[in-house]
This record gives sequence, structure tokens and C-alpha cells, in this order.
Amino acid sequence: MYKIYDLKCNKMNNPIGIDLTPCFSWRLESDRQDTFQTAYEIAVYDEKQSCVWRESNKSSECFNINYKGEELKSSNKYTYCVKSYNNHGEVAESETKEFTMGILDKSIWCAKWIEAPQARKPLLDETDSGAVFSGAVKSKENQEEFLNPPVYLKKSFNIEKSVKKATVYATAHGIYDLNFDGVSVGEVLAPGYTVYNKYLEYQQIDVTDKLFKGSHEIVCILADGWYTGKIGLMGIGNQYGETNAFLMQFEIEYEDNTKELIITDKSFEWYEGEYKYADLFVGEFVDYSAQEYNAPDSAKTNNNKYCSNVIEKDYGCDNLRGRVCESVRILRYMKPVELLVTPKNELVLDVGENIVGYTKMTVRAKKGTVIGLEHSEVLDKDGNFLQNIMGQNKNQKDIIVCGDKEVVYEPKFTFHGFRYVKVTGLCKEDIETSFSEIFEFAVLGSDLEKTGEFVTSNEKINRLQENIFRSQQGNMLSVPTDCPQRERAGWTGDMQIYTDTAVFNMNVDKFLEKWLENMRLEQLADGQIPNIIPQMDSNKYIDGENKKHVCSAGWGDACVIIPYKLYRAYGDKKILKDNYEMMKKWTAYVEKQAGTTFSKMPEEMTAEEKERQKYLWNTEFHFGDWLIPSIMKKTGNPMETAVLTKEPVATAMYAYTTALMIEVNTVLGNFDEAKRYTKLNKKIREAFSDEYIDENGIIKPDLQGIYVLAINMGMVSGNKLEKCIERLVELIHQNGDCLDTGFLSVPFLLDTLCDNGHSDLAYKLLYQTKCPSWLYEVDMGATTIWENWSAIRPDGTRTNSSYNHFAFGCVGDFMYRKIGGLNIGEAGFKKLIIVPDFECGLEFAHTKYLSEYGEVAVDWKLKDNKYNILIKLPPNTSGSVKLNNKTVEIGNGRFELSGNI
Ligand code: BGC
Repeated sequence: MYKIYDLKCNKMNNPIGIDLTPCFSWRLESDRQDTFQTAYEIAVYDEKQSCVWRESNKSSECFNINYKGEELKSSNKYTYCVKSYNNHGEVAESETKEFTMGILDKSIWCAKWIEAPQARKPLLDETDSGAVFSGAVKSKENQEEFLNPPVYLKKSFNIEKSVKKATVYATAHGIYDLNFDGVSVGEVLAPGYTVYNKYLEYQQIDVTDKLFKGSHEIVCILADGWYTGKIGLMGIGNQYGETNAFLMQFEIEYEDNTKELIITDKSFEWYEGEYKYADLFVGEFVDYSAQEYNAPDSAKTNNNKYCSNVIEKDYGCDNLRGRVCESVRILRYMKPVELLVTPKNELVLDVGENIVGYTKMTVRAKKGTVIGLEHSEVLDKDGNFLQNIMGQNKNQKDIIVCGDKEVVYEPKFTFHGFRYVKVTGLCKEDIETSFSEIFEFAVLGSDLEKTGEFVTSNEKINRLQENIFRSQQGNMLSVPTDCPQRERAGWTGDMQIYTDTAVFNMNVDKFLEKWLENMRLEQLADGQIPNIIPQMDSNKYIDGENKKHVCSAGWGDACVIIPYKLYRAYGDKKILKDNYEMMKKWTAYVEKQAGTTFSKMPEEMTAEEKERQKYLWNTEFHFGDWLIPSIMKKTGNPMETAVLTKEPVATAMYAYTTALMIEVNTVLGNFDEAKRYTKLNKKIREAFSDEYIDENGIIKPDLQGIYVLAINMGMVSGNKLEKCIERLVELIHQNGDCLDTGFLSVPFLLDTLCDNGHSDLAYKLLYQTKCPSWLYEVDMGATTIWENWSAIRPDGTRTNSSYNHFAFGCVGDFMYRKIGGLNIGEAGFKKLIIVPDFECGLEFAHTKYLSEYGEVAVDWKLKDNKYNILIKLPPNTSGSVKLNNKTVEIGNGRFELSGNI
């Protein structure tokens, strides 16, 4: 058996609306040993079935195959298929897949941007970050006084002939729900979150099956979304503009080959419908009592609402972009596991796990009944509903006023991070037996392919891995976010430390490629990478207005670390090429900062110190080893961790990034640059060692994370290395065998111990259940990864932290590699180094990973001091298996090895 599967175009299944060169990939499976593709044939056909590209290639490549055929036409659908030949004389044929091009020539856009001349309410959001973070400012109850209703944009049209093909191209400033004759045809939370002024995605939707002969109505409901909504840590609106707008081009092709174009222009009418407001963070307020449910036409006659013409705007279309990766979808629906009546006598639904999405409700209640659905991640110590998110405009509450008919409420313009939902307006008797019919929960996220599986003999470890996955799923929503409730921002540092784990769990290739392009667009002229991508103007209220330095070590470094890690995982040099200029500009910025700004006055330094200063990045603000548990416990203030650790941490990151730049330049063949970075990296490492490490191997500040970073970034050498390791071990023991590492050092902690003869301690930390530890969270009932290790304190107190931050879940990668044994040998998992650790304290581990080549599996178990290991590697790959200090080279296929431990 020789099989092709997962044939994809730009790593997507039958994508619609791509405007980049199509790039094909497929995975292979074989039941024979040592299978290699010897040649492939690919053929692409247009709508008339004529072949526009055919290529036969004697090559083992099965991904990154770029289309090189005839010029592709806008909006055309193409089909393609592949044949693969192998060294055993077998042939595999793929199924036929398709892709549809987007608008390839911007001059095709003739639609006008339209806006409703809605009198928008003034922005009254608090801008004093101190007031917001101290808890003095809270989310307002009466949000209808401050938020604007979404607008309905409407146009009627007639179809008089048979339709062959009908395609909508649409996008918005804001988010939109597009309806044809009352049926929603659009995508979830479209157009997603990007650097809008430079990169705005449009959606291409096939509506052919909606267009029978007769009269039709298009209604677009346009809400604030990320564009004007109350987003980010500060919860301030209008981050990208002050009004929402819509752009749509609708092409109809008739059976008689004539065409018709309907575009947004001033012929559209607008009105306000059943929504009082719909904010991404605050929630929705829908009133079904004032008008007929879901009947836009009848809204016309509604007392104080009216239909009037929209205005056209000239926002242009230079920033419009087609699809690059899978968009946000409803990933699954879930039912409540329980209806709780809390000690305060409130009704609270329990989802059973912390999710990102919304509550759907199907209920019949008396007209005018006001139902509230308030979302939160935890209950308090006593089991009462607790709104755990601090700040303004974080209500996470949907309000529904019932009309005459049964209400089927499903939010379109908001989502929440939650496990619990407080239901008001319905009484216990009405719902206690039917709550699981009335309520459902939709889980939302970018639709990324699940690639990893990891199950061991330790239930808690399995649960930890599931929690990590859940946090990743909830935070990969249009952009990689820090958390799904308080900020939902693309914090670069969070993604940087988590990339290796993200890769094991899901295919994040295109998703991050798109985000990195947005990062490039946001890079400042001097090379700085803002801390969050897309950037938000309201960050100035946190950073300080007019500040020149708006980045941080460990966060900005994401622009080097992430592309490099993606290259290693997916084996495509393009990611390095595309981002190379950004990386260079960033490292040049850091080099300049380090070389020209010093933490001491020149007269305070010896000549030697002065020379060293040039290689220390010890000025400006940095987040440092963010959220170190002991400092958080002592001060409760994360900024303390920043102030205390920022200097050595920034220099450690400088060393890390320059070391990666050596690799990047070597891969790209820029050997002179690689040499330059090698020299620079050496100087940085020496400067760090001289400045921060004393002869006894003590580093200042004397914290676990600083040792971890120093050891990992190669800054400790000679006999100091042993001393530093000893000190690290001592610090861990002094801390009751608990970790005390922050954001930037956590990903290296366990490896540092394992690589330096202290695996036992590494596993002790992994299996530790005292606070702070990963399994402490599991024991406390966590279903996602927390922002703070003690988000629920040992005494049961619930804090205002986020309960869904994937950052500290970066240990997922350690488990796949060290316990599972899966390591990347050659980029793209072309070669695997399989080194399971039988001394990890477990009886078995089943690990699977869907690489670009196909499925990799390593199953090992121990019994009576004997091991048994089953390995499966896909065609075109090979492996090195290291067991008991012996290395066995294998090809691909299935292998079983056993022996004494
Ligand atoms: C976010 C983090 C982020 C940090 C910067 C926080 O508020 O939630 O995850 O990286 O700020 O230090």
C-alpha cells in the first residue's frame, strides 16, 4: 500500500480566495520499509478542464511545490491532483482537490466603501492605566449608554435568469455578518484581526446555491469588532478608526454567460435593528421585543428606527488581501455538564472546562423577559459566581430581551473566555430539567489542524497536556493571543516562548506566517518590534506617551525566534527569507541600543568596563523574566520582576537572538553575516559573564531563571559552569523543589537540568504538585493553563488573573521531546532523533506527530526492567534512535526495538 493523503494548496483544504502563488503539499503513507518518493506528477486544470500546469519531477519533495504554470485568473476555480512514484515501483494517486483564486488585480475592485452616518457616542473610556489596573475602574453595568448599535446595511435585487456562478467578495472596518434572504453566509468574526490600515483580508464566498429566480435581499450587519470595539488591556475603543465601514463586490455570472455586478454604493440603505450594542469584549445586547425576530424588512416600520441611505467613503483597496490561512470557525458545540444553584442562590451553568466561544440559547419566555448570560472562568472559594477579569469593558455578558416567538440566540459579534455562565431572568423551575436543551456552547478558534497526540501512564501529565492544548486552541483566534478575556492581544513574547509547543499541537505554519507578515508591517523604522501585533494605540497609556522605546527584550526577539522555529519544524527556507530583513533590522536596533546607551556614566567606568558596556543591553524598560513566582508572592506586582531582572535578561536575549542569527544566515548561505554574528555573539557572552557572574558562579540577581538563561545562552564557561549549575540546583531545593522561573526562562528550565546531569530534579519539577508547579494547577481543577501559577492560591482564594494563558504551557514541548522522544534532526522532521527517556518515571508514553511528511509515532513501554518501543516514520524520512547510549540508524517504516533498561 502506498497512499497520498492531505493534498493541500497553501496548506489549506480547497481554499477559496487566495491571491498568493499556489503551493502544493501532500503526505505519504506506506506499509513497506524504507519508502522514498522517486518522482511526482502534478496537474492543474482550469474550469474548462484544460490543463494549465503539468509537471513531472524526479524528486522526493512532497511539500513547498510552487505552481509554475499558465497565468492564473482572478476568481477562477482550479482543480489539481498528484501522482507519486516510489522506490518500490508503486504509484499513489491523490483525490482531486480544488482551489479558487481571489482578486489578483486590484483594479477589479470597483465597490465603494459604505458607512452609515450613525451618530456615534463619544468615547468615555478611562485612559489612566493606574486607575484601570488598580481596580478603581470597573466595567459599567449600563453599557447601552456608551456603546453603539451595529448597523444593518441592505439592498434588494432581482434575479431573472439562471445563475451559473455567484461570488461575494467582502470585508469591513469592524466585523460583519452577511445575510442572503435572512440566511447568514459569511464567516465567523470576519475579517479577523490584522494591521488593518496595511493588511485587510477580504472574504470570498460562493453563494451560487442561494440565487434562484426572483427577488432577493442582502443584509450585512456591521458591528465594532476589533476596529472600533473596546479592545486590549486598556479596553479602549476606536483603536483603528472611529466608524465602521463595509465593502462588498458581488459578481453574478448567468448561464447565458452574461455578468452582473452588485457593489456596495450609496444605493444601500441602513437601519438599526434588534441589537442595542455588540462589542467583542463587553458582549451583545439584543432586543427581540421591539420588532419581528429576524425580519429586516419589518424594522423599517419600527417607531424610531428608519431606513436611509448610506454614505460612500474613499478608503481605497490597496491594503486588501486574500486568504492566507484557515479562518476562525465554530470548532464544536458542547452541552452544559451541570446547572449549579450557588450559595447566593444564583443559577450558573458549568461548561465542564474553560473554553473560548459563546453561549447559544434556544428558549421560549414571556415577551419582554430580560435574560442575562454572564461569563467567567472561575467560581469563588464558596462556589459563587465570580467575575475574574479586571479592567474596564470586560463584562463578557450577553443580554437578550425576549419577543413573541421562541428565541434562538447565537452571538455573532462577541466571544468570551469562560467556564461558568451566570443566567439571570429565568428561574430555576423553568430550566432545571431542560437546561441542556436550552443552552449550548460554541467553541471558537482559528481552524488549525491538530498534529500532536501525547498519552502516558500518568493521568495528571495527560491532563496537563490536554490543558495546554485547550489553552492553545482558545488563544489561536485570528492572531495568537495572550488570553481570551482580558486582552486578546498578539503579545510577541508569549508566542515566542510557546512556538515549539504550538508546533507539536497544531499546524501553525500559515497562521504564524500571516501574523509574521503583520509583524513586518508593524516594525518601526528604527527596527523596533512593538510588544503586541497588531499594535494598539492605547498601549501608549501603559508605556507612557511619546516614548521612543516601545519594545522589550524577549518580546521583540520573537521576530527572529519564531521564523527560525517554524523553519525547523516545517522545513521551508522561505519563512527565513521572507522575514530576514525584519530580523536584521531588529538585531541592528538592539546592537545600536547596546552599543550606544549605557547604564553607567562614562566617568564611573574603567576602560575595560566601557568596552564591555557595548555588548550589554542594559538600558530602557524590559519585561525581564516576567512573573517570577516568588516575587509575585512577595509583592503581587509583575513590574517588580521586570525591574529586578531586565538587565541580565535583555543581554541574555541578545545573546540568544544573535546565536539564532548565526543559524539563520548559515541556512540562507550568508556566510559573512554568520561570521559577523558569531563574533558579536561571543563578545556578548563574554561581557555578560564578566559583568554578572562572580568567580563563585553567583549571578546577580540570584534567581533560578537568570541561571537558566545564562547557562542556556552559553554565557557560563569553564569551572563557573559547574558552580552555576550547583547554585541553580541549590536554589530549587531551597524553594522546596519548586520552580521559580518567569516567562523567558521557563521554556529552558527542565532542559537545562536534564542537559547538565540533573534529570531527576527536572522530573521532580514536572511532577511537583506544590505551588508553583504545573500539576498544582491540575490538582486545583484547572482545565487550561493559568497566567499565574497561584491564580488559585493554596488556601482556595481566586485571584483576578487570567485562567487561560498558554505561555507557561511551553513545557508541552519538553514532554513531546524528552518523554515522547521526538526531536527534530533535519529541518521539517526529515530526519528524527528519537531519544525517549526511560528514566522519566513513567511506564509508557504514546506520542504521535503529523509532520509535513506524514505520521510519526513513538510508543514505548517498560515492564520488568525491559523496554519495548514501536516507531513509525513516514516515507521520505529517516531516524536515529538513541537508547542506552547506543545509536541505531533507521530508515522509515515500522520498527520494534526491545531490550533491558
Ligand atoms: C499579558 C502577557 C504579556 C505581558 C507583557 C500581560 O498583560 O497578558 O501575557 O506578555 O502583559 O509582559
